[in-house]
Amino acid sequence: MKRMGALMDKLIIEGGRRLSGDVVIGGAKNAALAILPAALLTDEGYCDIDNLPEIEDIKCLENTIGSLGARVSKQNIGHVRIEASHIVSTLVQGEDLRRIRASYYFIGALLAKFGKAEVVYPGGCEIGVRPIDQHIKGFEAMGATIEVEHGIIRAYSENGLKGANIYLDVVSVGATINIMLAASKAEGVTVIENAAKEPHIVDVANFLNTMGANIKGAGTDVIKVKGVKHLKGCSYSVIPDQIEAGTFMIAAAATRGDVVIKNVIPKHLESITAKLLEMGISIEEGEDSVRVSCSTRTKGINIKTLPYPGFPTDLQQPMTALLTVSKGRSIVNESIFEARFKHVDELKRMGANIKVEGKIAVIEGIDCLSGAEVVATDLRAGAAMVVAGLIADGITTIANIKYIDRGYEKIEEKFNNLGGSIKRIHE
Ligand code: EPZ
Repeated sequence: MKRMGALMDKLIIEGGRRLSGDVVIGGAKNAALAILPAALLTDEGYCDIDNLPEIEDIKCLENTIGSLGARVSKQNIGHVRIEASHIVSTLVQGEDLRRIRASYYFIGALLAKFGKAEVVYPGGCEIGVRPIDQHIKGFEAMGATIEVEHGIIRAYSENGLKGANIYLDVVSVGATINIMLAASKAEGVTVIENAAKEPHIVDVANFLNTMGANIKGAGTDVIKVKGVKHLKGCSYSVIPDQIEAGTFMIAAAATRGDVVIKNVIPKHLESITAKLLEMGISIEEGEDSVRVSCSTRTKGINIKTLPYPGFPTDLQQPMTALLTVSKGRSIVNESIFEARFKHVDELKRMGANIKVEGKIAVIEGIDCLSGAEVVATDLRAGAAMVVAGLIADGITTIANIKYIDRGYEKIEEKFNNLGGSIKRIHE
């Protein structure tokens, strides 16, 4: 039973402090959430997976993998060993799992290895309807039968999965990865067209190939998977988290600070860097770091969220918080999710001037936000409220921070080490 305190925790932020110094970025949440279930595909040996972020969703998946009969042993902080030769069940369910989106990766992994999977219908941040029709389309194209009843997705294929040509109607990160998982041991070749190209897709493909899979084209919109019979354990380190890095870049700019964000892949941050430069912020790129410094008020800009390499939808919310105090009018077009503006009402409590019409938010920059009592409505909305609290005049209290803990590791510790003033209280 989750410690009740975690559900009622709050963050109390004293705004108006410039961030400065260095921060080290952790492993990519959205890569790790697929790599852990993918480790179930091994037929021999074990997987040593390193640079995992210490966040709630990762703990939830590790517990689930253990409950299926695999041996999960913590080697060190962020380093887990998974030995998957003794899986005794293909039934994946539970309250915690029902709340997270990544539970659906167990379908692709278990279907590939055992020809069947029964997985609780996925949850995830309430930022839109979030259907899984493209996942199902891919599995059915490979010969699986999918039934959904009593909140459980039942997938099975009597004669094993067969390679297929699958065209995704929507560019979907989850569907691209899930189909890659299922295709890795299917008989024959699977071609995924109109595939998502996010860095975490490439990371999952690299992990599978390190296990002995045969995947080509990850990172482009055509991915070719030649099914193999046998996958073995391996050692792998997850890439740095593009979204955590972008969140700290935005916070550094918002507080007119000077921060070096370390352990990043600058290439993955190009769209964020381009937009911050457009706002008048200075950015210095190193080998595996970016330095963000800003001494004047930022200029308002227009943002449209797009699949990678476009501006990531996961940074729309923290960026919106920054735009509330940028000079002039900014227009944010959230083209990926139809309900990803729930943070706007909370920003308005702090004095923001924002009008939302469908997928468009029009922001008139004001001089300064004022601290208030707000809530985190979802993970990245929570990050937006932290950015807002850091720059507001006075004290901001953020409730419902269990969302934030699902995706950010030690968020208050990292910001306080940069000069922020954030306290966590257990109500
Ligand atoms: C992943 O969600 C991420 N979550 C999300 O991050 C991220 O916002 C999203 O990709 C886009 O980058 C994880 O990786 C665990 P999609 P996912 O399938 O896979 C529609 C965060 O904050 N769609 O790429 O669910 C869908 O409704 C979280 O870390 C279908 O129509 O996203 C959406 O409009 C939030 N049918 C669009 O595609 C489908 O079968 C993109 O969704 C699948 C998706």
